[in-house]
Amino acid sequence: MNDISQFSNGISVLEITYVIASVLFIFGLKMLSHPLTARRGNILAAIGMVLAIIATILFHQKDSKPIGNIGFILAAIVVGTVIGWIIAKRVKMTAMPQLVSFFNGMGGAAAALISMMEFPHVSPELIAKSGMANGHVLAILLGLMIGTVSWAGSMIAFGKLDGRIGDMRIKAMKYVNLTILAVLIGFIAYIMTRHVQASSELTPLIYIMFVIAVIYGVLFVMPIGGADMPVVISLLNSFTGVAAAMGGFLYNNQAMLTGGILVGSAGTILTILMCKAMNRSLLNVIVGVFGGGGQTNVVAGGTVKEISLSDAAVLLSYSKKVVIVPGYGLAVAQAQHICHELDKLLEEKGVEVKYAIHPVAGRMPGHMNVLLAEADVPYEQLIESDEINPDLPNTDVLVVIGANDVVNPAAEDDPSSPIYGMPIIKARDAKNIIVMKRGMGKGYAAIENMLFFNDKTRMLFGDAKSTLQNLVNEVKSL
Ligand code: TAP
Repeated sequence: MNDISQFSNGISVLEITYVIASVLFIFGLKMLSHPLTARRGNILAAIGMVLAIIATILFHQKDSKPIGNIGFILAAIVVGTVIGWIIAKRVKMTAMPQLVSFFNGMGGAAAALISMMEFPHVSPELIAKSGMANGHVLAILLGLMIGTVSWAGSMIAFGKLDGRIGDMRIKAMKYVNLTILAVLIGFIAYIMTRHVQASSELTPLIYIMFVIAVIYGVLFVMPIGGADMPVVISLLNSFTGVAAAMGGFLYNNQAMLTGGILVGSAGTILTILMCKAMNRSLLNVIVGVFGGGGQTNVVAGGTVKEISLSDAAVLLSYSKKVVIVPGYGLAVAQAQHICHELDKLLEEKGVEVKYAIHPVAGRMPGHMNVLLAEADVPYEQLIESDEINPDLPNTDVLVVIGANDVVNPAAEDDPSSPIYGMPIIKARDAKNIIVMKRGMGKGYAAIENMLFFNDKTRMLFGDAKSTLQNLVNEVKSL
């Protein structure tokens, strides 16, 4: 009988499929870097993953025997797919960040479980057979540590983004976390030196390591609040990728390895970019040290001045340059389409309209880009904050729509503020500022924003969607 798992030249179907899957992952990731191709990129990478799973089930062999427990595997796939599908269908756009954090945690948990399952099987005979004693065990231990930290940290991040968990700041947290990290590394070093003689006796240590890694994951995300969550989310994302790559090493599985490395490296690059954008150090991120002291000295003072819809419409229509700063509130109100209608109307009147995009506006990386792309706002109109800042003194009207922390001058003025040091959109440099929000509610960092009390600022209170709709009507009637 022909062996369907191999081509006539001896190359296995599984290996070829893994190469195809890896290529699809790489192209998919590349396409995710632009809003216009992102959707197709996602589908491409998903096809790669489906191919890799099917090929593994059909063609993977261990000791010349096909994969076992097929019934359990298929049942788990069906249950996971149905639950994932329902959750993804039901989730509101504004709850996406929590969901992403939750799913990321599941990846970390899977990697940790693999390590816990595999360690007891590491025997001197297996090591002698595979010839990779240290590499094998190190992959298991790192997969366990990083996967568990990613899972525990992501669950805390999920709770924080969902507003269920608050911040816990203790001065000595940095030292506690560094000590726990050192203990974890100590465990790895000890097990590495002892496993060849006594791997089965060391199994209980694996469970102790798991508990310590859970504690570390919780403690390093707990103090994070204010404007620093985005950095941690991308760091946790990279952890899950690295933990999955460890599984790839362990099983010598190229698709898992490529997928893990892609997620790990993309997450790491994003973390470094986020650190730069937030003016934070990577080491501080890893041990859970963030921002300023947590209490801001800014006390709201003065009065806020409002503007009427008709005055706002006139001011905007007779301007030369308008800059819109979208924020989380725009996403909550789902006002992106009507916002684009306003910018088109103004452009028809000869006003130049640009969008100032802050890297952490909203609640997930690229949130504003995705939101505005959904409303077909041309990509060229979206300008990064550091690029648009020098232009703001020449801007006639800056319209803040549902943004708060990303335009908060406390980041520049108040060293005690948790967002101190974070680069902001320098809204106060514009000639006139209109702020659209429902009331005097605070942003994610839960601190006062003196921009609202600035002499040049006028507040336009109300839900962003209805306010923008009314504004569009006013502009049309001029
Ligand atoms: P925020 O600072 O969170 O402020 C949003 C503002 O929108 C609120 O002050 C709220 O004021 C207003 N708002 C809410 N619903 C509204 C509605 N329906 N209509 C009009 N306004 C509405 O937003 P931001 O400036 O985009 O900053 C993002 C924050 O989230 C940063 O601190 C960032 O670090 C953090 N964060 C970001 C991410 C990523 S990756 N982007 C992830 C986690 C956390 P009212 O209640 O008065 O309306």
